[in-house]
Amino acid sequence: MLAVRRLAAGDVPALVTIVRGLPDYFTDDVAEKVERDTAGHDTWVLADAGDIAGFAVVARKSAAGAEILWMAIDPVRRGRGHGTALLGHVLDDLATSGVAVVLVKTLDRCSDYVPYRATRAFWERRGFVQVATIDPLPGWQPGNPAGIYAVALRPTRT
Ligand SMILES: CC(C)(COP(=O)(O)OP(=O)(O)OC[C@H]1O[C@@H](n2cnc3c(N)ncnc32)[C@H](O)[C@@H]1OP(=O)(O)O)[C@@H](O)C(=O)NCCC(=O)NCCS
Repeated sequence: MLAVRRLAAGDVPALVTIVRGLPDYFTDDVAEKVERDTAGHDTWVLADAGDIAGFAVVARKSAAGAEILWMAIDPVRRGRGHGTALLGHVLDDLATSGVAVVLVKTLDRCSDYVPYRATRAFWERRGFVQVATIDPLPGWQPGNPAGIYAVALRPTRT
């Protein structure tokens, strides 16, 4: 049974294991960054029959804006709707707390790196719209153009 909850004490090693199990997606330094970011930002985990099957780390940027810093699903469980379930829960919680727009940065489509095609398809199928390409993006390794995506949780025009 799937359940989404906030990060609890003792969960971080499971998140690190998920990150390390996705070497096609995350460079070696990411596990440490995820660990650090869980300390300062909101983190949701997806539990599957007691195991941690995925997580999302979200930074609040303003009263109505947030950024998904990290999100991943256990590699053996990918493509089964777990990411969709987790993201839906996270976006609902953010909307309830007043967030209107959520950003995520991923590898831009102008890169020919195949693994991230599925990632971009995931964001796009879940309603995220690409609004910019930034290359180079400060803090990202050279040769990794960033695709900037956003999803609206409610209208912002007055
Ligand atoms: C991206 C990720 C979080 C999605 O979670 P998931 O549980 O695999 O995704 P779901 O099963 O809920 O949804 C699958 C969707 O992703 C896309 N997708 C997944 N695998 C795909 C593949 N091999 N080819 C094309 N599209 C694919 C599809 O659009 C699919 O949506 P649809 O069923 O509506 O068409 C997960 O696959 C993951 O951890 N990827 C590696 C790490 C990563 O890329 N993190 C995000 C960095 S920005």
